[in-house]
Order: sequence, then C-alpha cells, then structure tokens
Amino acid sequence: MTQVIDGKRISAEIKDELREKVTQYKEQGITIKLAVIQVGNDPASSVYVNNKKKACAYIGIESLAYELPEETTEQVLLDLIAELNAREDVNGILVQMPLPKHMDEQKVIEAIDKDKDVDGFHPMNVGALSIGRKGFVSCTPFGIIQLLKRSGIEIRGKECVVVGRSNIVGKPMAMLLLRENGTVTICHSATKDLKEVTKRADILVVAIGKPKFITAEYVKEGAVVIDVGIHRNENNKLCGDVDYDSVAPKTSAITPVPGGVGPMTIAMLMYNCVNSVEI
Ligand code: GUN
Repeated sequence: MTQVIDGKRISAEIKDELREKVTQYKEQGITIKLAVIQVGNDPASSVYVNNKKKACAYIGIESLAYELPEETTEQVLLDLIAELNAREDVNGILVQMPLPKHMDEQKVIEAIDKDKDVDGFHPMNVGALSIGRKGFVSCTPFGIIQLLKRSGIEIRGKECVVVGRSNIVGKPMAMLLLRENGTVTICHSATKDLKEVTKRADILVVAIGKPKFITAEYVKEGAVVIDVGIHRNENNKLCGDVDYDSVAPKTSAITPVPGGVGPMTIAMLMYNCVNSVEI
C-alpha cells in the first residue's frame, strides 16, 4: 500500500504547535515580529507573501509588510534592511525572491543579519548547516525532513538521491539528509545516467523544475518519493516534477502536488521565526 504523505495535515500540526509556543512566549512578555519585503508586484510572489502574512496572524507572530515599487533602487532596499537589522523588536527579515533584474540577490541576502535570516539563505547559515552548527535552515528542505520524520520514515542508513542542486532546495536538502545519517547522492544536469542513479534511491527527492519528468522507470519498487516541483499542466491543473499517476503505485510513500511539500515551506518559515528567539 502506498502512503500518501499529507503535507496539509502535517503543516497544520506544526502551525498549531507553534501557536501554542507563541502563546507561552507572550505570557513571558516575549513577542515575535517578522518583516516581509516584496519588491514589485509579481502575482506569484504576492500570493506567497499573503500566505506568509496569514500564517503569521494564525500563529500570533506580528508581521510588518513592506511593498516597494519595482523601480526601487538596490540602495533603498539595502538601507531598509540595515534599518530592520538594527531594530530590536524585529526578529526575522524576509525578502521575497525573485528580485527585479537590476538588483543583486546575493548582495541583498548577505545584507540581512544572519540572526534574522529566517529563510536560511545567508552564507553563514548555509555554512552552519554544513558543519552541524546552530543556525537557520532553508524552509523547503527543512520541511521535507519534517514530512519524513512525522510519517515514520527512517533516514538513517538509507540511499538518498536528490535531483537538483539549487542553493535553496537541492544543496541544503543533501546536507540535511546527511545530517540524518543518510547516504546521499546529488544529481544534476550533467549527471550521465540519471535513471541508473535514481533507481538506487530508497528516498528520492526531486527538485528539477520540469513537469512530470520523473516517470515510473526512474523509481525503485518501494521507494519514498518527495516531489518539490509545482507547475500548471496543459489543463491548468497543478502537477509536480514527478508523474504521480505512473510513479505512485510503485512507491511505499509519496507526496502529492498540491498538498505535499508546498504547505511545509511556510510552516517551517514560521518555525524559524519562533525559534529566532532562541538563536
Ligand atoms: N521565493 C520563492 N520561494 C521563496 C522562499 O522560500 N523565500 C523567499 N524569500 N523567496 C522565495
């Protein structure tokens, strides 16, 4: 029987735990504040930013929203970040990506105080993850670890294959699986025989940004498959990087799209905000 991993349920569970924790903090006089900055009005970014604000409201985190016009200069954004870095009442700073083309994303990420970088994108946090130090962890891969753990899937000693090597998902995913004592392989566009590698996976994480790319012949019988992709198909329906209908029957567990990895990103952002108090 295939276990369909319910990201909606697990993310709701995490948000409820955090809400409880925030209530306790409030009783101790500790409040949590997240600054969310959006530059321009990309419709997808606006949806994400609104969902982040809603999650904050549910959990009891105060959110400060900054909506800057598309033509904002990089310096104005850097000045705003510096101001938020200096504010003691602000615990987290999130700059919604992508930024307009005239801005250097890496420079903006590095301008955020590492102790307020709830996205886990700052090089100091990326480095901390790789050497097992405390720090913020990128939300999507962090959420995937929670999905696995809360679904009773053991990582220790497993063959873990990550397809995709982005800074936000693939690379931190590999580091996290390694931290959980998995045996980890990262595949990318220059991998010679992708199918041969993915077929070895006990746990296969796919983050390549190509709709329905992973079909049944890429997957070992009984594997756990985690699909990070999200696309609209020709009928305007959501689908992932994995061809769910052909792959699911072969797996022991799989995440659906929507309702798998997607809801976990915001839940773990909230987790990072709440935990910023202790960092
Ligand atoms: N754009 C798409 N995903 C993300 C994310 O997780 N964080 C930020 N800041 N921007 C994004």
